[in-house]
Amino acid sequence: MGFVNWGLLLVFGVLWGALVVVSKQDDGLVMVALRRELVVSVWGGDANGDSNYCSWDGVLCNNSSSISVVEKLSLSHQQLRGNLSLISELKGLKWLDLSMNKFEGSIPPSFGSLSELEFLDLSLNKFGNSIPLEFGSLKNLRSLNLSNNFLEGSIPAELMGLESLEELQISENNLVGSISSWIGNLTKLRVFTAYENLLTGRIPNMYQLQLLNLHSNQLEGPIPESIFSSGKLQVLVLTMNKLSGSLPLSVGNCKGLSNLRIGDNKLVGSIPKSIGNVSGLTYFEVENNHLSGEIVPEFAQCSNLTLLNLAYNGFTGTIPSELGELMNLQEFILSGNSLFGDIPNSLLRSKNLSKLDLSNNRFNGTIPKDLCANTPRLQFLLLGQNSIKGDIPLEIGNCAKLLELQLGGNYLTGNIPPEIGQIKNLQVSLNLSFNHLHGPLPSELGKLDKLVSLDFSNNQLSGDIPSAVKGMMSLIEVNFSNNLLTGRIPIFVPLQKSPKSSFTGNKGLCGEPLNISCENPFGSGDEVDHHKVSYKIILVVLGSGLSVFVMVAVVVFLFMMRERQEKSAKAAKIIEDGIAEPPLVIAGNVFVENLKQAIDFDAVVKQSLKDSNKTSCGTFSAIYKAVMPSGLILFVKRLRSMDRTVTYHQNKMIRELERLGKLCHDHLMTPIGFVIYEDVALLLHHYLPNGTLAQYLHDSTTKPEFEPDWRRRLSIAIGAADGLSFLHHVATIHLDVASGNVFLDANFKPLVGEIEISKLIDPSRGAASISAVAGSFGYIPPEYAYTMQVTAPGNVYSYGVVLLEILTTRLPVDEAFGEGIDLVKWVHGAPKRGETPEQILDARLSTVSFAWRKQMLAVLKVALICTDSTPAKRPKMKKVVEMLKEINQS
Ligand SMILES: *[C@@H]1O[C@H](CO)[C@@H](O)[C@H](O)[C@H]1NC(C)=O
Ligand SMILES: *[C@@H]1O[C@H](CO)[C@@H](O)[C@H](O)[C@H]1NC(C)=O
Ligand SMILES: *[C@@H]1O[C@H](CO)[C@@H](O)[C@H](O)[C@H]1NC(C)=O
Ligand SMILES: *[C@@H]1O[C@H](CO)[C@@H](O)[C@H](O)[C@H]1NC(C)=O
Ligand SMILES: *[C@@H]1O[C@H](CO)[C@@H](O)[C@H](O)[C@H]1NC(C)=O
Ligand SMILES: *[C@@H]1O[C@H](CO)[C@@H](O)[C@H](O)[C@H]1NC(C)=O
Ligand SMILES: *[C@@H]1O[C@H](CO)[C@@H](O)[C@H](O)[C@H]1NC(C)=O
Ligand SMILES: *[C@@H]1O[C@H](CO)[C@@H](O)[C@H](O)[C@H]1NC(C)=O
Ligand SMILES: *[C@@H]1O[C@H](CO)[C@@H](O)[C@H](O)[C@H]1NC(C)=O
Repeated sequence: MGFVNWGLLLVFGVLWGALVVVSKQDDGLVMVALRRELVVSVWGGDANGDSNYCSWDGVLCNNSSSISVVEKLSLSHQQLRGNLSLISELKGLKWLDLSMNKFEGSIPPSFGSLSELEFLDLSLNKFGNSIPLEFGSLKNLRSLNLSNNFLEGSIPAELMGLESLEELQISENNLVGSISSWIGNLTKLRVFTAYENLLTGRIPNMYQLQLLNLHSNQLEGPIPESIFSSGKLQVLVLTMNKLSGSLPLSVGNCKGLSNLRIGDNKLVGSIPKSIGNVSGLTYFEVENNHLSGEIVPEFAQCSNLTLLNLAYNGFTGTIPSELGELMNLQEFILSGNSLFGDIPNSLLRSKNLSKLDLSNNRFNGTIPKDLCANTPRLQFLLLGQNSIKGDIPLEIGNCAKLLELQLGGNYLTGNIPPEIGQIKNLQVSLNLSFNHLHGPLPSELGKLDKLVSLDFSNNQLSGDIPSAVKGMMSLIEVNFSNNLLTGRIPIFVPLQKSPKSSFTGNKGLCGEPLNISCENPFGSGDEVDHHKVSYKIILVVLGSGLSVFVMVAVVVFLFMMRERQEKSAKAAKIIEDGIAEPPLVIAGNVFVENLKQAIDFDAVVKQSLKDSNKTSCGTFSAIYKAVMPSGLILFVKRLRSMDRTVTYHQNKMIRELERLGKLCHDHLMTPIGFVIYEDVALLLHHYLPNGTLAQYLHDSTTKPEFEPDWRRRLSIAIGAADGLSFLHHVATIHLDVASGNVFLDANFKPLVGEIEISKLIDPSRGAASISAVAGSFGYIPPEYAYTMQVTAPGNVYSYGVVLLEILTTRLPVDEAFGEGIDLVKWVHGAPKRGETPEQILDARLSTVSFAWRKQMLAVLKVALICTDSTPAKRPKMKKVVEMLKEINQS
């Protein structure tokens, strides 16, 4: 018996010993298995052994006891996928970051057994199904990030067990149901974001928050007082919900609240005077609610206030003159209320004011005389639809930066001051319609060569339309109707192209497009001819007029970038002088494993700050040549950012870049990595020594001797078409097809570049004035005028222009073609001018051999159908590739 007992004990002892040994190596076995399951390339292969798992990248162990326990796993951004369940065997894990990978399916419920876990980041993956209830047992968890996945279902009540939680991010999922009141019992919660979900119900009480962002859900009920009670709130974003009730008085507790955005809800009541105690307030946005009462002068105490947007509510009364003390104010938007009285002079003391929008109110004073004397940065002056009286002050001419001037629908009297011609930047719109203006149209209007839309309708303006209006080269929309104008409408495409209704209601006007002949000795004879000719010119010029418009839009957009660029230029100078370190890199990655060692992010930044490294400059980006300390040469594309895209959409951007990095095609220039610092994104590319097709065709300095290179040109044309065709195949539209964006490698193989742009720049995010972002001058399809959208057929048009460049060795826009005629119109017009193909094709190529000439003529045919003015008549990119390949084989 005793013997048996001793034997049993022995067996137990051995087993116990084995268990200790096993648990000692436990993490090692798990780690090796994990490496195999997730294919973590930074951990090497199985040959790498397992004993040193604590030294693997992203692994941190605690060696304080005799066992090496894995405490931290940082595997963000590694293209990982696979079964994660194994991780729950790492019992000592405190920190787990698996963000920005490709995990899909359910989140393993077994993670709930990681009782030591303090930090869990699963954001930016493709996890689906619901949040595991088992998470509720993570008593030590301080930070949970599940945002940017495809999670469904409601927020499980079990999470109320997360008593240590400080940060909870579950935004950008498909979560439903309400945010239950237990969340208020998470007493340490400081950060809570759940924006862009499908959440309903009320916002529960929460007491210690610093940041609350719940925008774009379907939440209702009031904004709870409790969120202001501790006074710690810094950011509150609740836009686009169905919230009711009023903004609580207790908002005044939060001195550090800088960002208060509660627009697009159903809020009522007035703005509490306590807002004046929110001294850190920088952005205040409440547009599109049912708020009422007066604008409280207490706003004047918020000296950092930069944006004040009260638009589309029921505010009444006058603008308190104290608001003129807001020296940092940049945008002041009060449109769509019932405000009246004067526009306070004091308001025009805010030196940084760039947008003043008082439209759609009942303002009944006059326009202040010293307008723009103290607001040198004013870009948008929107005073339309009010009851403003008096003259348009001559001082309007001081508003040199103005992009849009809206004064329509008021009671303005007097003449249009000629000084208006001094507003050289005016581009978006000049609207003086529905006033009581009289007198002549000043010929100085002709100086507004960037202006796109002009509306003088419904006044008492008299005299001729001066022929100087022909200076308004960018004009697209014009309205002179219902005035007292007389004489012949000047022959100027934008005027003749306008509908009749733009001129009706003027008894004395004649000429096109009114169909009223001017009883004029030169008149009737060549009227018809004129008509024909000008109609053709209209078609011809419409395209370039638009191009100008788009250029203008881009200029506006670049203008907004200027400050940032000035800043970086300064930074560059400082670095060259060796005074400062380069700016801090926020994020960076190299997608190509074997290049990781060779690329130094700081060096990338430094090289891209030197102007002498710039090799080309496109509509959306500039390219720098950067030599790494390792000797590797890169192209670094510095993206022009808009509206702080980089800052606010960094994660999405990184995701898109990684997707693009994997878009493998022989003729696409896909990024191999990126670096982000401040608000700048630098995209890394392989260096392509032969520059762009534009440089190859048009830059004679690179190639002093002309080579008869038709074969090479044709193969470049086919390659570029193939790249574009593939892009269309994966449902991507290129935003800037142009020869300057076709790059040539060492063997002159073409790669279509700038494809990131269509993914990274979202035109809908810009202000109305810069919503049009559509490529390069000379390549923009004519239908863009109506659609304002770049489409696949639009790409085909732009590609057709590139083909024409290849065939003719001419630039897409060239003064030699004649006024308003671009390459497309010049080529299409050749038969009518009685010119032979030889006069169009580059004769240095077409006369080399009969076979070449035949091929060039065939390609010309393709180019002509690609550039057809009717989008539907253009072939698909795929068809273009087929046609060109066929020509190549003939
Ligand atoms: C723990 O020990 C391993 C070697 O066993 C070593 O690679 C690792 O750096 C150590 N970790 C710490 C935090 O000291
Ligand atoms: C390592 O683990 C021990 C307990 O095993 C703990 O006391 C210690 O704080 C840990 N060290 C670190 C750096 O986490
Ligand atoms: C992952 O592995 C565990 C056990 O190793 C298994 O129970 C689970 O079903 C697996 N999950 C998936 C999604 O395959
Ligand atoms: C997820 O949220 C945590 C806590 O707020 C934060 O520290 C982390 O940076 C977030 N992860 C990503 C990828 O943004
Ligand atoms: C929150 O905590 C209070 C006590 O502090 C308790 O009465 C209440 O039931 C808790 N609420 C929830 C939803 O657990
Ligand atoms: C602002 O705060 C002060 C104390 O800091 C208080 O006396 C005053 O009443 C507050 N004003 C408003 C309008 O809440
Ligand atoms: C205004 O902004 C600056 C810079 O962000 C900050 O240092 C300052 O504290 C702010 N002022 C107030 C009153 O919060
Ligand atoms: C205007 O804005 C700039 C930054 O854009 C800031 O440096 C400057 O202090 C502001 N001017 C005033 C008068 O506040
Ligand atoms: C403007 O309108 C208000 C309210 O209708 C009226 O009291 C005031 O006298 C008007 N001011 C002028 C200058 O007409």
